[in-house]
Amino acid sequence: MNDPKNPQATPPSYYQRHIFFCLNERSDGSECCARHQAQEAFDRCKSLVKAAGLAGPGQVRVNKAGCLDRCAAGPVAVVYPEAVWYSYVDMSDIDEIVESHLKNGRVVERLLTPPHLGR
Ligand code: FES
Repeated sequence: MNDPKNPQATPPSYYQRHIFFCLNERSDGSECCARHQAQEAFDRCKSLVKAAGLAGPGQVRVNKAGCLDRCAAGPVAVVYPEAVWYSYVDMSDIDEIVESHLKNGRVVERLLTPPHLGR
Protein backbone atom coordinates (compact mmCIF):
# COMPACT_ATOMS: atom_id res chain seq x y z
CA MET A 1 0.00 0.00 0.00
CA ASN A 2 1.44 3.36 -1.01
CA ASP A 3 1.70 6.23 1.43
CA PRO A 4 -0.82 8.82 0.10
CA LYS A 5 1.44 11.63 1.35
CA ASN A 6 4.42 10.18 -0.50
CA PRO A 7 3.35 8.02 -3.44
CA GLN A 8 7.00 7.44 -4.43
CA ALA A 9 7.91 5.89 -1.05
CA THR A 10 8.99 2.28 -1.09
CA PRO A 11 6.60 0.07 0.87
CA PRO A 12 8.08 -1.88 3.78
CA SER A 13 9.68 -5.16 2.80
CA TYR A 14 7.68 -8.29 3.56
CA TYR A 15 10.89 -10.05 4.62
CA GLN A 16 13.77 -8.43 6.42
CA ARG A 17 16.19 -10.55 4.39
CA HIS A 18 15.73 -12.87 1.48
CA ILE A 19 18.41 -15.34 0.41
CA PHE A 20 18.32 -17.11 -2.94
CA PHE A 21 20.40 -20.20 -3.71
CA CYS A 22 21.14 -21.14 -7.27
CA LEU A 23 20.24 -24.83 -7.57
CA ASN A 24 20.64 -24.99 -11.31
CA GLU A 25 21.66 -28.34 -12.74
CA ARG A 26 22.89 -28.74 -16.30
CA SER A 27 22.19 -32.05 -17.96
CA ASP A 28 25.06 -31.67 -20.44
CA GLY A 29 27.63 -32.08 -17.67
CA SER A 30 28.87 -28.50 -17.81
CA GLU A 31 29.58 -26.50 -14.67
CA CYS A 32 26.62 -25.55 -12.54
CA CYS A 33 25.95 -24.88 -8.86
CA ALA A 34 24.11 -28.19 -8.42
CA ARG A 35 27.46 -29.97 -8.90
CA HIS A 36 28.84 -28.17 -5.83
CA GLN A 37 26.50 -29.12 -3.00
CA ALA A 38 23.99 -26.37 -3.73
CA GLN A 39 21.00 -28.45 -2.68
CA GLU A 40 22.70 -29.47 0.56
CA ALA A 41 23.61 -25.83 1.25
CA PHE A 42 20.05 -24.71 0.61
CA ASP A 43 18.65 -27.42 2.90
CA ARG A 44 21.13 -26.55 5.63
CA CYS A 45 20.41 -22.83 5.42
CA LYS A 46 16.67 -23.43 5.52
CA SER A 47 16.89 -25.69 8.55
CA LEU A 48 19.26 -23.37 10.44
CA VAL A 49 17.03 -20.36 9.80
CA LYS A 50 14.00 -22.30 10.97
CA ALA A 51 15.77 -23.68 14.06
CA ALA A 52 16.91 -20.17 15.01
CA GLY A 53 13.33 -18.90 14.84
CA LEU A 54 14.26 -16.53 12.02
CA ALA A 55 11.86 -17.81 9.36
CA GLY A 56 8.73 -15.95 8.36
CA PRO A 57 7.27 -12.54 7.53
CA GLY A 58 9.37 -9.66 8.83
CA GLN A 59 12.32 -12.01 9.19
CA VAL A 60 14.15 -14.29 6.78
CA ARG A 61 13.08 -16.28 3.73
CA VAL A 62 15.29 -18.93 2.11
CA ASN A 63 14.44 -19.59 -1.55
CA LYS A 64 15.52 -21.82 -4.38
CA ALA A 65 16.55 -20.13 -7.59
CA GLY A 66 17.50 -21.19 -11.07
CA CYS A 67 20.71 -20.00 -12.68
CA LEU A 68 21.64 -16.57 -11.34
CA ASP A 69 24.05 -16.10 -14.25
CA ARG A 70 27.16 -15.99 -12.08
CA CYS A 71 28.14 -19.60 -12.70
CA ALA A 72 31.88 -18.85 -12.84
CA ALA A 73 31.70 -17.95 -9.15
CA GLY A 74 29.47 -20.86 -8.16
CA PRO A 75 28.06 -22.14 -6.05
CA VAL A 76 26.43 -18.81 -5.28
CA ALA A 77 23.71 -17.35 -3.11
CA VAL A 78 22.51 -13.75 -2.91
CA VAL A 79 21.00 -11.90 0.02
CA TYR A 80 18.53 -9.04 -0.45
CA PRO A 81 17.85 -6.23 0.26
CA GLU A 82 21.61 -5.73 0.61
CA ALA A 83 22.27 -7.49 -2.75
CA VAL A 84 25.27 -9.25 -1.21
CA TRP A 85 26.57 -12.17 -3.27
CA TYR A 86 28.30 -15.12 -1.67
CA SER A 87 30.43 -17.88 -3.13
CA TYR A 88 30.48 -20.65 -0.57
CA VAL A 89 32.61 -23.76 -0.39
CA ASP A 90 31.26 -25.96 2.35
CA MET A 91 28.55 -26.22 4.96
CA SER A 92 30.52 -24.29 7.57
CA ASP A 93 30.31 -21.31 5.19
CA ILE A 94 26.53 -21.63 5.24
CA ASP A 95 26.59 -21.71 9.05
CA GLU A 96 28.59 -18.49 9.04
CA ILE A 97 26.29 -16.73 6.55
CA VAL A 98 23.27 -17.62 8.68
CA GLU A 99 24.83 -16.61 11.99
CA SER A 100 26.59 -13.48 10.82
CA HIS A 101 24.49 -12.04 8.00
CA LEU A 102 20.99 -13.47 8.22
CA LYS A 103 20.84 -13.31 12.00
CA ASN A 104 23.01 -10.29 12.83
CA GLY A 105 23.24 -8.26 9.63
CA ARG A 106 27.04 -8.55 9.36
CA VAL A 107 28.31 -9.33 5.88
CA VAL A 108 30.77 -12.26 5.70
CA GLU A 109 33.51 -10.47 3.79
CA ARG A 110 35.67 -13.54 3.19
CA LEU A 111 32.89 -15.25 1.21
CA LEU A 112 31.97 -12.34 -1.06
CA THR A 113 31.73 -13.23 -4.73
CA PRO A 114 34.44 -11.44 -6.70
CA PRO A 115 32.61 -8.60 -8.48
CA HIS A 116 34.00 -9.38 -11.93
CA LEU A 117 32.83 -13.01 -12.01
CA GLY A 118 29.71 -13.60 -14.04
CA ARG A 119 28.72 -16.42 -16.28
S1 FES B 1 24.49 -22.40 -12.49
FE1 FES B 1 24.48 -21.30 -10.59
S2 FES B 1 24.72 -19.23 -11.20
FE2 FES B 1 24.56 -20.32 -13.07
